[in-house]
Amino acid sequence: METVVSGIRPTGELHLGNYFGAVKNFIQMQETERCFFFIADYHSLTTHPTPENLHQNVKRVLINYLAAGLDPEKATLYIQSDVPEVTELYLLLNMNAYLGELMRVTSFKEKARKQPNNVNAGLLTYPVLMAADIIIHKAAKVPVGKDQEQHLEMTRTFANRFNRMYKVDYFPEPQAYNFGQELIKIPGLDGSGKMGKSEGEGNAIFLSDPPEVIRKKVMRAVTDTGPTQPNQPKSEPVQNLFTLLSVLSSPDTLAYFEEQYNKCTIRYGDLKKQLAEDIIQINAPMREKMLQLEKDEIYLRKVVTTGAEKARESAQKTVREVREIIGFKSF
Ligand code: TYM
Repeated sequence: METVVSGIRPTGELHLGNYFGAVKNFIQMQETERCFFFIADYHSLTTHPTPENLHQNVKRVLINYLAAGLDPEKATLYIQSDVPEVTELYLLLNMNAYLGELMRVTSFKEKARKQPNNVNAGLLTYPVLMAADIIIHKAAKVPVGKDQEQHLEMTRTFANRFNRMYKVDYFPEPQAYNFGQELIKIPGLDGSGKMGKSEGEGNAIFLSDPPEVIRKKVMRAVTDTGPTQPNQPKSEPVQNLFTLLSVLSSPDTLAYFEEQYNKCTIRYGDLKKQLAEDIIQINAPMREKMLQLEKDEIYLRKVVTTGAEKARESAQKTVREVREIIGFKSF
């Protein structure tokens, strides 16, 4: 049995990118592995949420996780800030994380460009906190989407550096993981880039979106004027829609629209209608469960309390051993 760790920042509702990039793997992995899945609320402080927003967003991710099928009986499900041991390991790892390497991280450079008035130290050391999240449970596998690949490389760097520095074979090398295939990137609906919450209105479809909203967002997705020659290469916006079909719809549906495209008889409106209905099918049971969970404060409290206890037990053991390795000795 392998140890698995992953988390999601609470910035609102989860979208299809989060689901297919991460959560769907969580659900499969919880059946056979020792799993820790958390809500990365410390990480979300880099963008300065208000106290009300922070709490609301944590609650929404918890409800989304449970509605998607995470089972607190099988996996340890917790809120990052309920496990303060993470911050101690983060501090210790920070001593061996270098400014140069942190400044070269793509996500840091992107964030610094996007929020030039808030280039805080937490943004710079974001990969260190993420490494602490992972190695605090000595994880081997980390189910994430493609955008987290570089962060996982940093995690391996910090874990290996610790082992080398103290001449121990303590932390394993965690690998980014996607069940049975390559890491994936779910595209957004605006014709470029990935599906993401901060990419602008209408780009992302949330697991909580009702059918009419899904239809509206998908019908507005960017396309082009259509192919004019057989087997013409696809433009980026159209390729994105086909990528969504390949993940969300049946192989027959994908094959049908591929053929229509290659014969120049495709009607993007038909493709979108089909795509929207397939998304609605996936979302419907999750949405229904969300509506139930929203009312069940007692259950939610029980889930996070039990999760915190289990996660702390594992984290405390690691921090105790790390302190010993570093040389903190009691008198
Ligand atoms: P976050 O909150 O941005 O995203 C959560 C997960 O969803 C995946 N994801 C996607 N996958 C495919 N296509 C997309 N369009 C897409 N958008 C998001 C992300 O790859 C991720 O797996 N730093 C992390 C949170 C984190 C973490 C960790 C993850 C903190 N500590 C430790 C793993 C282990 C983040 O910001 O993900």
